[in-house]
Amino acid sequence: MGNAELIARADRVLMNNCRRQPVVLVRGRGARVEDADGRSYLDFTSGVAVNAFGHAPAFLAEALAKQAAELVHVSNLYYSAPLVEAAERLTGLSGMERVFFCNSGAEAVEAAIKLARKYGRTKLGGRYEIVTAYRSVHGRTMGALTATGQEKYQKDFAPLLPGFRYAVFNDLSSWREAVTPATCAFLLELVQAEGGVYPAEPGFVRGLAELAVQHGILLIFDEVQTGLGRTGKLFAWQHYGVKPQIITVAKGLGGGFPVGALLAREEVAVFTPGDHQSTFGGNPLACAAVCACLDEMIKQDLPGRAAALGAEIAGRIRARQKEIGIIRELRGMGLLLGLEIEGRAPDYAEAALARGLLLNAVNETTLRIAPPLNISREELAEAMGILQAVLAGK
Ligand SMILES: Cc1ncc(COP(=O)(O)O)c(C=O)c1O
Repeated sequence: MGNAELIARADRVLMNNCRRQPVVLVRGRGARVEDADGRSYLDFTSGVAVNAFGHAPAFLAEALAKQAAELVHVSNLYYSAPLVEAAERLTGLSGMERVFFCNSGAEAVEAAIKLARKYGRTKLGGRYEIVTAYRSVHGRTMGALTATGQEKYQKDFAPLLPGFRYAVFNDLSSWREAVTPATCAFLLELVQAEGGVYPAEPGFVRGLAELAVQHGILLIFDEVQTGLGRTGKLFAWQHYGVKPQIITVAKGLGGGFPVGALLAREEVAVFTPGDHQSTFGGNPLACAAVCACLDEMIKQDLPGRAAALGAEIAGRIRARQKEIGIIRELRGMGLLLGLEIEGRAPDYAEAALARGLLLNAVNETTLRIAPPLNISREELAEAMGILQAVLAGK
């Protein structure tokens, strides 16, 4: 069955809740993926910064199959060895001491909101307000949606959660003004990814950390998109030398298997039994994926590779920027890059698709470049060739 027939069937049964490009992806290997009509594409989306190892990595298929043959699910009523091993690896690598596993980025953010509120209630005299950034994206569940500082995502879903304030990204004075006697936490993406790929300035992050210390406010970094190698370090906070009390991760954590996590310092890990849980959170299959992915990420030094390939992409773009003409700016870190252009970014993403490159527009003028971290240099060169031809209108 080809693209057209499957899409027609999808249109009859799927909720009309998101815009998909008109291809049905069937199978993939590394940075290449094939559709139902047999067309091949290079993937610069990585399933929205998820497929750090590309499509169908053999080590992951093997780890999942092995675990599935032993134990798939046990619930929160019991321990499992993969659960413990995944938590040990994550604490060892992140500098955090406690882990809560869930199934997605939004759930990790929800857990962070609850942990910050419980900390505020029990350790900060009842403080509960959380300050987040305008233009941020933290997820679509009601708490994460409230944390998301963008009207366009929130407008049809009021009333939102009380107890949130918003401040301007990279503007410390705005965060200072947003602090009240009720503030318990700052929640920040170090690169505003969905908002247009805007990196935080080092001086802003350092200033925010000082402000947090001054007022006894928790610092939460939402590393759902920046986490696990994509920015050129395992965690984006490592670029800034500012260690938060709480980190959320998801996307790349399971290499495509759905899993999220909340990581916290010991002193803020105030949950007690019954406070928060998820039936599927930390299930053996997800945790086997986490263990395999973290081991492979370190073994292959994918953060280092992301840094090197990100620099290579920047070099290629700069070399032809004048000739192409419509490039306004390249932003981002490692392999999480935003190319701001003149003209409608979604149109260019569509043109790229027609030429065999998967690319997505994070807003009207910005294309996100987020290939698998293990993309080969040859594939990268080929994909950049397509992108540059599309931008040059050739
Ligand atoms: C920084 C950030 N936080 C949270 C989320 C929500 O993650 P999920 O879609 O897995 O719920 C996203 C999704 O794009 C994100 O980029």
